[in-house]
Amino acid sequence: DTTLVADVSAMLRDVPDFPKPGIVFKDITPVLADPRLFGRVINAMAAPFRGQHITKVVGVEARGFLLGAPIALALHAGFVPARKPGKLPYKSVVEKYSLEYGADGLEMHEDALHKGERVLIVDDVLATGGTAEATSRLVKKLGGELVGYSFLIHLAFLDGVKRLGPDKVTSLLSF
Ligand code: PRP
Ligand code: MG
Repeated sequence: DTTLVADVSAMLRDVPDFPKPGIVFKDITPVLADPRLFGRVINAMAAPFRGQHITKVVGVEARGFLLGAPIALALHAGFVPARKPGKLPYKSVVEKYSLEYGADGLEMHEDALHKGERVLIVDDVLATGGTAEATSRLVKKLGGELVGYSFLIHLAFLDGVKRLGPDKVTSLLSF
């Protein structure tokens, strides 16, 4: 799919000063709204992990859900949500993290993974890596084996890849 990067780039909308002054927000909603492009994105984000025996895809609230759930189906894996604090109904494990714009926490149900499950973490954007790193700590806490990360967009100037391990990170677009 040689034109995918150009096609996605053309559909992404840069929104300056959202949610705070100085942040340029990459709005992916036009990509999701185009059924053919959405499908190509899901296929491409899943592709590096086909044949890697992924058993669970962990999607990070909220935008990671939008990409993680269809990628899980594409890989014939289950889907597990990593949620913002207080949203999950059952017993959960928690990890705190700091964000490009603020601080937060993420939770997963304590029985969301069996020991040794092969896990792919999915999110829309890799910025500082704080969110993805916290998610990886949740996966490890539950005994999962982290196979890798799949992002739609990677903001290279923020050095998030270093925190996660360059061998584990894949992304469709880099800025
Ligand atoms: C954004 C984005 C990633 C995270 C990346 O999520 O969707 O999850 O920030 O930043 P980092 O690499 O510096 O941690 P946000 O927390 O804004 O929430 P949302 O997905 O619920 O919109
Ligand atoms: Mg997010």
